Amino acid sequence: MEKIYWFEEIESTNEFAKTLVKEADEWTVVAADKQTKGKGRLGRNWYSPDGGLWFSVILKPTSLSHLITLVVGVAICEAMKELKINTRIKWPNDILIGGKKVAGILTEIETNAIIVGIGINLNVFDFPDELGETATSILIESGKVVDKKEVFLLVLNKLKEKYNRFKSDDIGELLNEWRIYSTTIGKIVSVETPSEVVNGEVVDIDDEDGALLLRLPTGVIKKIFAGKCKLIR
Ligand code: BTN
Repeated sequence: MEKIYWFEEIESTNEFAKTLVKEADEWTVVAADKQTKGKGRLGRNWYSPDGGLWFSVILKPTSLSHLITLVVGVAICEAMKELKINTRIKWPNDILIGGKKVAGILTEIETNAIIVGIGINLNVFDFPDELGETATSILIESGKVVDKKEVFLLVLNKLKEKYNRFKSDDIGELLNEWRIYSTTIGKIVSVETPSEVVNGEVVDIDDEDGALLLRLPTGVIKKIFAGKCKLIR
């Protein structure tokens, strides 16, 4: 059964969700108006002031897959589309408006669950200097303050819809939706993986596992499962 915890302030909704994960049912949600130790991917901090939408969802799929991150990306883009906001996805999980990041996804695998952390810069009116060039918010882009609870429910419902399709193995259609929102396919990129930096042209994502398929200068196609992706052109 769905249970929602909503805090005024918390260190990190993902970290709190971890303390619940053993006993929690699927769709238990932890949200907060503000995070004091918001976590980004690859050990980075995630700027989480009042005004943004910060939440984590506990999911318990029978098999763990990289595809979950892609499914969440599509759900966010579709929710934004309903608000008449056009977003694109940079593999694996950056949600962009005009090349700047408006939302991020941090999926963490726990013993019996996946914690899906979603951060959306909604009514955030400015960013620290070091993020100013690369981050944006719905408020900055649209000039409008949006209703946080409304967006929360919209994203959650979209996520349920997509996740149910994911569970019923309707992967092909989900990947096609991801391809439509993607800003990565066809681009020349540089990907920093935990072990190396790989440059090449993105030809597609893998139908089975959502990995990035990169054509190296030698013509060889390489599969990349995780990493930091920089668009070159
Ligand atoms: C990224 O680096 O792009 C991922 C950012 C994920 C941020 C969200 S905000 C809610 C949840 N709690 C966290 O501490 N991080 C995620």
